[in-house]
Amino acid sequence: MKHPIYILGIESSCDDTSAAVICDGKVLSNVIANQEVHAQYGGVVPELASRAHQQNIVPVVQQALNQANISKNQLSAVAFTNGPGLMGSLLVGTSFAKSLALGLDIPLIDVNHMQAHILAHFIENGSPKPPFPFICLTISGGHTQIVKITDEFSMEILGETIDDAVGEAFDKSAKILGLPYPGGPLIDKYAQLGNPKAFPFSKPQVANLNFSFSGLKTAILYFLQKEQQKNPLFIKENLNDICASIQYTIVEILMDKLKKAVKETGIKHIAIAGGVSANSEIRKRLQNAEKQLCWKTYIPKFEYTTDNAAMIAITGYLKYLRKDYADISTAVKARLKVTE
Ligand code: KG4
Ligand code: ZN
Repeated sequence: MKHPIYILGIESSCDDTSAAVICDGKVLSNVIANQEVHAQYGGVVPELASRAHQQNIVPVVQQALNQANISKNQLSAVAFTNGPGLMGSLLVGTSFAKSLALGLDIPLIDVNHMQAHILAHFIENGSPKPPFPFICLTISGGHTQIVKITDEFSMEILGETIDDAVGEAFDKSAKILGLPYPGGPLIDKYAQLGNPKAFPFSKPQVANLNFSFSGLKTAILYFLQKEQQKNPLFIKENLNDICASIQYTIVEILMDKLKKAVKETGIKHIAIAGGVSANSEIRKRLQNAEKQLCWKTYIPKFEYTTDNAAMIAITGYLKYLRKDYADISTAVKARLKVTE
């Protein structure tokens, strides 16, 4: 195998167009173009997302190569997200990756977005990597899962949400509060100044290691409607406390199940991944668990939590080392499990 190995990663599964270059596991560039267009609709509009990807993909890839200070002819392989995600969005990145790999006559590598969120922990950046087996709590806008990882590409889902994802719980709660999409980061921001015990919300009773968040959303909605009948300015006057209470409840639900997973498996190496792992409360609680519960925790850098191509490129690199390439006729998969 010829070193250095340069992998271009391309991510276009939802509303972020991203390209990254990784050299022997180290990130040289990680360019992300966010799509502002969706905010006014309160959520991602698939048709608009694919159009924006179409406009962004070439300049974003060019910028990633420029920042990495390499020419496309130095690339060893092109890795791309083949699912899960929005069909129209996935098609843009996939078609581009195929054409580029074909034109440069280099391997094409398909990457499972859910595996990539977890494997972002294997980026070479000086932080310790989780040893096998470890447990990862993957929390994003589309998924909430507890995954046991016994090897880079051998994963098992121990539990997952039976309805909304945790990111949706944040975003839908934020919407009820009149905050713009995506509201997760805003709830986090206001919660910093609030009292997490101000308004107790009950936690759902769900069997095993599964989660449920739809009941919480309804409970918040009814609670706010009731309070607003008494005081129309309730949300405005109590925004920080409401956000802190919502965030506290959500993080409690996550921590309860993680503790259960540790108890059942005996594994104490715990990682988090996905957009919601940017949340300051879950990061703090996990750090505390090192001392309080004797866990060893792995918290990704902020830039590798929400959707990014560096995680696609590192997964591509790990597959490249195994010569696990994709066929040029490979199809995108809007639905794809972390175990596939
Ligand atoms: O992984 P991601 O970028 O996209 C998906 O694959 O879904 O996750 C996006 C989700 C959104 O729901 C967003 O509100 C949430 O991550 N999020 C946060 C925070 N930052 C992003 N939720 C809570 N606190 C944050 N700081
Ligand atoms: Zn994601």
